[in-house]
Amino acid sequence: MLKIENLSVSYGSVRALSDVDLEVLGDGILHGVIGPNGAGKSTLLDAVCGRRRPAAGTVRYRNEDITRRSVAWRRRQGMARSFQRTSVFQDLTVHEQLHLVAQHLGDNRLDDVIEVMDLAGYLHQKAGRIAYGVQRRVDVALALIGRPHLLLLDEPGAGLSAAETLHLFEHLRDLVRERKIAAVVVEHDVDAVFACCGKVTVLDLGRHLATGTPQEIRADHRVVAAYLGTAA
Ligand SMILES: Nc1ncnc2c1ncn2[C@@H]1O[C@H](COP(=O)(O)OP(=O)(O)O)[C@@H](O)[C@H]1O
Ligand SMILES: [Mg+2]
Repeated sequence: MLKIENLSVSYGSVRALSDVDLEVLGDGILHGVIGPNGAGKSTLLDAVCGRRRPAAGTVRYRNEDITRRSVAWRRRQGMARSFQRTSVFQDLTVHEQLHLVAQHLGDNRLDDVIEVMDLAGYLHQKAGRIAYGVQRRVDVALALIGRPHLLLLDEPGAGLSAAETLHLFEHLRDLVRERKIAAVVVEHDVDAVFACCGKVTVLDLGRHLATGTPQEIRADHRVVAAYLGTAA
């Protein structure tokens, strides 16, 4: 589904990612990405979805080199990204937001998305007035419109309690499994990642540190030294 090779991204003189290789299969499992603040996790999603041009390296999607394709092209080809900070327009109702994106993508099957993210009870409320946890579900719902093949989620649990985050992750795990799609989920809460992701990648200082099953990652002494030793 996604193959990243030798990816490097810079912001001026700051090297945010260096020579990252990563493969994500479209096999219905959640692929978690963890690592300390500033490790380059959001930058990785930006480079994959086309918001940020890499300084070097290639991004392949469904066996095609898409490194130079636009964000809009990638979205139409089934790659959808959500953001670390909630991106909903506060003055629109939940339904208006969903409808806007659906119109843009020419996909009117909203019922499915509403049901999956359990939003039926909130459709006519303004996004700025609903609880934060529900706003995060709206964000994920927006990414699900158009039946994406590859979901890129940036800290969907940000601002949620540990229990809410775990619940959201369980939901995502089931959804990705049922639809047999691929999903890359950046997350701060390592417990939710280890509980629900089939594969985990660790970034540190812009470099790929390790990729493996949750058991392998927990047992990796380099990961423990760089991250888990302090985080978990
Ligand atoms: N727009 C930007 N301009 C300059 N530096 C940035 C920008 N975005 C991120 N960075 C830097 O790039 C590095 C990686 O950031 P980021 O990808 O946001 O990390 P993470 O999501 O893992 O916390 C950090 O050193 C950060 O300060
Ligand atoms: Mg980030």
